[in-house]
Amino acid sequence: MNDDQELCLCFHVSRRKVMQYIRVNRPKYASQLSECYGAGTGCGWCRPFLRRLMEQSCSLEETEIPNADDYASQREEYRKKQRGEPRQDD
Ligand code: FES
Repeated sequence: MNDDQELCLCFHVSRRKVMQYIRVNRPKYASQLSECYGAGTGCGWCRPFLRRLMEQSCSLEETEIPNADDYASQREEYRKKQRGEPRQDD
């Protein structure tokens, strides 16, 4: 995923916006990233990735996020699971 692609698909928040928010505001908790255009406050799919970006900001490790197409399709599977719908491979 490049920095301009959406990390939070519900609220169209790019990875760049989240990284900028972390750099400028230095939040203590991942939940504070909701103040960045509502990131993470929709379906919840992006929360683990937001958490990893927070952790990454405290270390030198790079956060591995799938490319945009895989990220969106994995989120769709996540949303189906939330709604109790059968998955593609079921
Ligand atoms: S993708 Fe971020 S809350 Fe749904």
